[in-house]
Amino acid sequence: MWKIEPPLENRNGELFIDGCSAMQLAKQYGTPLYVMSETRIRDNYRRLNGAFQKHYANFKLYYAMKANSNLAVLNILRQEGSGIDCSAPCEIFLALKAGFKKTDLLYTGNYNTLDELRYAAENNVTINLDDVSLVDKLASVADPAGVAGLCFRFNPGMGDSGMEKLVCAGPDVKFGILENRIVDAYQRAKKLGFRNFGIHMMTGSNILNAKYFPKVAEILFNTASTIRQKVGIEFSFINIGGGFGVPYKPNEKNLDIEAVAKMVTDKFKEKITDTGSKPRLLIEPGRYIVCDAGVLLTRVHHVKNTGTKKMVGVDAGMNTLLRPALYNSYHEILVANKLNEKQHEIVTVTGQACENTDHLCRDRAMPKVAEGDVLAVLNAGAYGFTMSSHYNSRPLSAEVLVHNGESELVREAESFEDLVGKQEVPQRLQK
Ligand SMILES: Cc1ncc(COP(=O)(O)O)c(C=O)c1O
Repeated sequence: MWKIEPPLENRNGELFIDGCSAMQLAKQYGTPLYVMSETRIRDNYRRLNGAFQKHYANFKLYYAMKANSNLAVLNILRQEGSGIDCSAPCEIFLALKAGFKKTDLLYTGNYNTLDELRYAAENNVTINLDDVSLVDKLASVADPAGVAGLCFRFNPGMGDSGMEKLVCAGPDVKFGILENRIVDAYQRAKKLGFRNFGIHMMTGSNILNAKYFPKVAEILFNTASTIRQKVGIEFSFINIGGGFGVPYKPNEKNLDIEAVAKMVTDKFKEKITDTGSKPRLLIEPGRYIVCDAGVLLTRVHHVKNTGTKKMVGVDAGMNTLLRPALYNSYHEILVANKLNEKQHEIVTVTGQACENTDHLCRDRAMPKVAEGDVLAVLNAGAYGFTMSSHYNSRPLSAEVLVHNGESELVREAESFEDLVGKQEVPQRLQK
């Protein structure tokens, strides 16, 4: 059984999100609808930031906006004092639009084009490179002495993740620079005239094991010390990445963030600051900040008994929330208007896309679902809207921000005309 906790509430069998009725939101704004709780985003930021800050004051959280790049969400995090981890030029553009200072942005691309590197350099953001040879490419489009800060993504040779295929370090992954080439990277960068150095890693996502964080951080801190000695540079910052997990399944436990922060900062002091170096410690979480602040509301339009299964057809599918189809990931689903009903049937919830992988859950015990019911797909705030697509020519859904019982539309649902977009049909084909 899923335990309903803030920002969710069970009021007489009906789901409320940050004080707003899910049924009312579905009626007012239509479905599918992404609902984000402002209170929960702020709480998540403060809990995580506070846990690290109290052990090491020269610390900064850079929110990984790939998890959720809605401008309202970005503005909330700017007010909280966050920096931003950008993974693409348009994320730099959006972060600046949300009012972040250039000095609070870090751009981590991979397999970059020269234009992307130029864009990041022209916008004066710190640049994180995913390969040694990219440093020469960057120097070909920007004056090294003018680049605000330079960093390399280190691959410590190990990674971890929750149940899903979200490991992003180790010998076989596409990311980062392995131990045997990392010193060369900094030597080359120093020779080219870059300055203001950092080092970064991002080894996996949705990790719930607290002990993993100090273990992998120790490898990074040892490597940073080696580079410092061998290359003769001082690091301005050391970034241990994101990956802080969130329970998606009823039996999973919260990550002990207090323990993670204590263990990581203890290692940081032992390996880095006690040796005379005074860099800033960074983390760049995405999921932890926004995941459980978001709920996807979707209405049941058609229920079909196939003879072997009860298929519950809803208006959100893999085009709206890709994670179940992409990773087979689990999202808890509540019937928003039947919270007090006992679970008594097994259903598969499916979207409307023309793919058999288009499901939000398979063979799940739920209350008796009927057409017209509203389902609430939980933990939809991270990698939800940002991974949605136009597949089957379905317009992107609306997003609403809720806060202490008030709701505001923060992204209008797309129209059919929006989907036509910038397409043009050559004259000769219009006859
Ligand atoms: C470079 C980088 N930083 C940070 C993140 C955020 O990860 P998470 O949402 O697991 O905290 C990701 C996610 O893929 C990433 O690729």
